[in-house]
Amino acid sequence: MSGIALRNPIFTRVKQLSSEVPECEYDQNLSSLEKTFVYALSPEVSKKINSHTRHGSNEKEMTDIITLGTSIFDKGTAEHMVRVGVLASEIAIKYGLSEKTAGNLEYAATLHDVGKLITPKPILNSEERINSESSGPLRDHPANGYLLLEFHPDLKYAANIALTHHERWDGKGYPRKLKGELIPLPGRIVSAADVFDALLTDRSYRKARTIKETQAIMNYDQKGKFDPEILDILFDNLDHMVGVQRYSRKYAIDKLESLKTMYLG
Ligand SMILES: [Fe+2]
Ligand SMILES: [Fe+2]
Repeated sequence: MSGIALRNPIFTRVKQLSSEVPECEYDQNLSSLEKTFVYALSPEVSKKINSHTRHGSNEKEMTDIITLGTSIFDKGTAEHMVRVGVLASEIAIKYGLSEKTAGNLEYAATLHDVGKLITPKPILNSEERINSESSGPLRDHPANGYLLLEFHPDLKYAANIALTHHERWDGKGYPRKLKGELIPLPGRIVSAADVFDALLTDRSYRKARTIKETQAIMNYDQKGKFDPEILDILFDNLDHMVGVQRYSRKYAIDKLESLKTMYLG
């Protein structure tokens, strides 16, 4: 574990979180940060991760368990993550990607905000968040998500999506200010799905935007943020995409419930 401690700047926060869970015992055999991290947040979930890893798990199982771990920390973030996975896969289909690629994207996109796990909870749920998405502590979440996921060989695709989903088409995003097609396509798709879902959802600090407002914000207020081709796909299929977002609300709640039953009994 010393390698992780040396390599990973978020380890301090992980240790701090673990000290807030008194029954947490570190398993010295843990070899990846994502196990350590979820372990710190939920000993129950981490034990499942550990046993699944030992018995050979695939990226879908790992994604499900990490999503479940996230939901224990912050239900709203976990539900959003699942919805964005569904929306991203739908955009991918409309973009012309194969069903298989879209299915893989759904799982990988689900983990896009996992770096928020180390954001202090009062910030996640406060008005401060409004101004902190691009300038405050939340600005670190793409890189933190990447650091969290890259340790698992099956989650490298998801790690890259986490890292790139706040880049902007005009090069003014973060953390690397990538521009245009230098931003990998999955990151560009998730960027649009992410904002579309966030705007159509009630937050603790504001009500959901209307469909018209969402369209205006993404096309005008946030002009330059998104790949124009993906924006066209989203709004040329607006009724369908709004339907998918609505469907995904119940789907996310049901999915998290069933994961809870499946893994935690
Ligand atoms: Fe994000
Ligand atoms: Fe997000």
